[in-house]
Amino acid sequence: MTIKRIGVMTGGGDCPGLNPVIRAVVLAARARGWEVMGIEDATHGLVNLDYRSPRGNRLLDVGDVDDILQTGGTILGTSNKSDPWNFVVEKEGVKTTIDVSATAVENYHKLGLDALISIGGDGSMKIAQKFCDLGCKIVGVPKTIDQDVAATDTTFGFMTAVQCATDALDRLHDTAESHDRVMLLEVMGRDAGHIALHAAMAGDAHICLLPEIPYRIAPLVEKIKTRKANGKPYSIVVVAEGAHPHDGEASIEKKLGEMPKLFGAAQRLAVALEPHLDLDVRATILGHLQRGGSPVQFDRILGTRYGVGAVEAVEEGKFGQMVSLRNHQITTVSIKEAIEKQRLVDPQGQLVHAARSVGICFGDE
Ligand code: F6P
Repeated sequence: MTIKRIGVMTGGGDCPGLNPVIRAVVLAARARGWEVMGIEDATHGLVNLDYRSPRGNRLLDVGDVDDILQTGGTILGTSNKSDPWNFVVEKEGVKTTIDVSATAVENYHKLGLDALISIGGDGSMKIAQKFCDLGCKIVGVPKTIDQDVAATDTTFGFMTAVQCATDALDRLHDTAESHDRVMLLEVMGRDAGHIALHAAMAGDAHICLLPEIPYRIAPLVEKIKTRKANGKPYSIVVVAEGAHPHDGEASIEKKLGEMPKLFGAAQRLAVALEPHLDLDVRATILGHLQRGGSPVQFDRILGTRYGVGAVEAVEEGKFGQMVSLRNHQITTVSIKEAIEKQRLVDPQGQLVHAARSVGICFGDE
């Protein structure tokens, strides 16, 4: 098959490393003489060809990707509210969802795309699979700071997010020690505790609460009191946003056409802990700081390898496949398989074992 024009788009939440992928796609595709159409704000640019927020779909050339290797965000914009099968519209002042997938597929053809590289997380890959089922030629690139896509050893963005959380913990150590306080840091990750676990280990936390290991208050109080009795009247606690007590659920808010949002895990814990301690407890939510900023070198390199890998997959006609890193090598896996399984922290795994061995308490024992 002769390729003349491919599309590239970013979907779901942004993530440090997206721009390195876009750059690599454009450079590798232009080197083959292909045109590259950047699609604006995930599938918004496919659902409506007049969509401008602010630039709209556009052809990308080598000059457009100069100087973006080191930048966070995505030059194409992104969205987690553009699922064409559940597209949010307002009818007579009321929000509802409709199916605009037929229009999106028609526009894919109108744009003259021979293939589309879709960079996104599990939600975007589910949408990519539906496009494949309707005859579009899609190659996926996995993206998430949460590290929860099981079909690849790692994704770009994760390392940058962990570095951000580790820097925050280093800062919290200083002020916690000065004031003899218990400092809670809430980090992202949805249902997976990878960011929390890695940050807790790298940032010298004393307690780490994960969605995969429900916690009880008593062991946390005991850990903090023992530290105080041993001359350390301060403690650092990492709380994954999806962490929950053994007798409660993660705190979730749902809105029409949007991914459910997790919020309040650290604040809820602060309220539960304070009556048991004669120490101040303060909660910090790191939030979207974890998603911004310059990608660390690992994420720049992996993003570049994924971008080149995706262009090669298009060249080889590997449609319906997602690039993946296995044993340090770029390979491909079917998107169908990739959306089947989530990677969660293994409570019996080596990392949790090592963390426990250096005294990190998970609130379960
Ligand atoms: O999936 C990535 C992620 O950053 C999660 O860790 C977090 O729960 C969610 O996205 C936040 O999404 P939003 O940008 O919609 O607040």
